[in-house]
Amino acid sequence: MPHPLFVDFQGRKILVSGASSGLGRAICVELSRRGAELILLGRNQDQLKITEDRLESAGHHILCVDLTSHSEIYEKVKDFSRLNGRIYGLCHSAGVVETRPMNAIRVEGLRHMLDINFLAGLELARAVSRRDVMEENGGSILLISSVYGHVGMPGQIGYCGSKGAVISAARAMAIELARRKIRVNTLSPGLVRTTMTDEALSRLSQEQGKKIEEAHPLGIGTPEDVARAATFMLAPQNAWITGSDLVIDGGFIAQ
Ligand SMILES: NC(=O)c1ccc[n+]([C@@H]2O[C@H](COP(=O)([O-])OP(=O)(O)OC[C@H]3O[C@@H](n4cnc5c(N)ncnc54)[C@H](OP(=O)(O)O)[C@@H]3O)[C@@H](O)[C@H]2O)c1
Repeated sequence: MPHPLFVDFQGRKILVSGASSGLGRAICVELSRRGAELILLGRNQDQLKITEDRLESAGHHILCVDLTSHSEIYEKVKDFSRLNGRIYGLCHSAGVVETRPMNAIRVEGLRHMLDINFLAGLELARAVSRRDVMEENGGSILLISSVYGHVGMPGQIGYCGSKGAVISAARAMAIELARRKIRVNTLSPGLVRTTMTDEALSRLSQEQGKKIEEAHPLGIGTPEDVARAATFMLAPQNAWITGSDLVIDGGFIAQ
């Protein structure tokens, strides 16, 4: 009898955006340990190849897509599935952040964050959940939000807005897609060291950076912490979880 927390993705295809870096890469590695066949989506082919080389099981694919091109997303996913078979799951981990105080906000920067963090995730979910793309018995969609989808932060008005939108839209998707047994959830990580946060932290003073780190009672997280939680949310064994957001933040927003 398998352990109740046992998760197994044997023979299931999962598309992961942002697979070329940070959290997306760690999520791919963790899913591959549980037998998933990954579709690694990103723009940087060399970095996607590095992720592929770290995967444990076999049968993975690389899908180069620029997520700013929304019409391309839909077509590429559909074409991929026609050639390679149905998809069980999606994890939208691609994301961008631009830190600017209110008086320096540019509409283009806001649009770019909404485009990648929110609209591209929605478009991927639309493509993956098509009747001729998703597995016939349903599947699982996980969108990576952030603690900043829950709480505010100076300089992050656009980023917070884009991440809050992800959580709200996921709830609505969960209700709409439940009749087809498609689960939709979000994950809201606190600070984890990746390319994204290294860049953002490098623009802060040492003291400001230290203050953010200290705001996480259990310290800052690792990509592997997030990857294990993502695997749990995506797992077919957790078939009753939908419309939920899992905060994984070392206690950041519990204070
Ligand atoms: N790290 C944290 O502390 C933290 C905390 C909370 C939430 N998050 C969220 O977690 C997710 C992953 O963050 P991360 O830290 O892993 O960031 P990262 O290391 O900077 O990775 C970002 C990923 O987004 C992809 N991407 C960006 N623009 C793209 C585009 N136009 N088309 C296709 N792919 C694009 C990049 O792929 P290419 O370079 O191949 O294009 C890259 O794989 C993001 O949604 C982020 O907001 C992160």
